[in-house]
Amino acid sequence: MAAQRRGARTKLFDGAFLHRLPLYQPGDIPRTAEERELLDAFRQADGLIIATPAYHGGVSGVVKNAIDLIEETARDERVYLSGRAVGLIVTAYGWQATGATLSSLRSIVHSLRGWPSPLGAGLNATGGLFDTEGRPKDERIGATLAAIAGEVVQFARWSRLGAEATSTAELP
Ligand SMILES: Cc1cc2nc3c(=O)[nH]c(=O)nc-3n(C[C@H](O)[C@H](O)[C@H](O)COP(=O)(O)O)c2cc1C
Repeated sequence: MAAQRRGARTKLFDGAFLHRLPLYQPGDIPRTAEERELLDAFRQADGLIIATPAYHGGVSGVVKNAIDLIEETARDERVYLSGRAVGLIVTAYGWQATGATLSSLRSIVHSLRGWPSPLGAGLNATGGLFDTEGRPKDERIGATLAAIAGEVVQFARWSRLGAEATSTAELP
């Protein structure tokens, strides 16, 4: 919602969707409807926000499985997550796994040639993060998530401006 307020068109892939993805298998094999839908979104996106719970000190398997699907873009002109800002959010029942998982998620985004947002959210979920209507219980959580959305949308605009400037400069 914070990204939408900044003018972005957004698409959410929630836990229920990610659970329907098969385990990623590389190779020239038929992809399920869910895999194709997610791949289309990866390819079209000007920016992404990835949120994961910390499981045993790292990115949860379901989220990592979805990220692994990006391998299918290895031969695209816009390979992996290149040119895209990626906002990162981690929840955990404490601070130790939050920091470790955020750091690991940044490495994953770097290996996919994406630009992790400068601000990452490490949220301690021990006391619950959101009320029954989905509003953050602590306004600092809302402010952090809004700031990350702002960074991703701002980077997407810069990236587009840069692309336009390049193509204009190439005109005879
Ligand atoms: C399999 C599993 C492993 C987990 N491992 C950790 C962990 O290593 N460190 C931690 O702080 N929390 C851990 N948690 C707690 C999750 O991070 C937490 O459930 C998640 O952030 C979402 O919070 P919620 O369950 O209150 O929605 C684990 C939870 C599960 C189910």
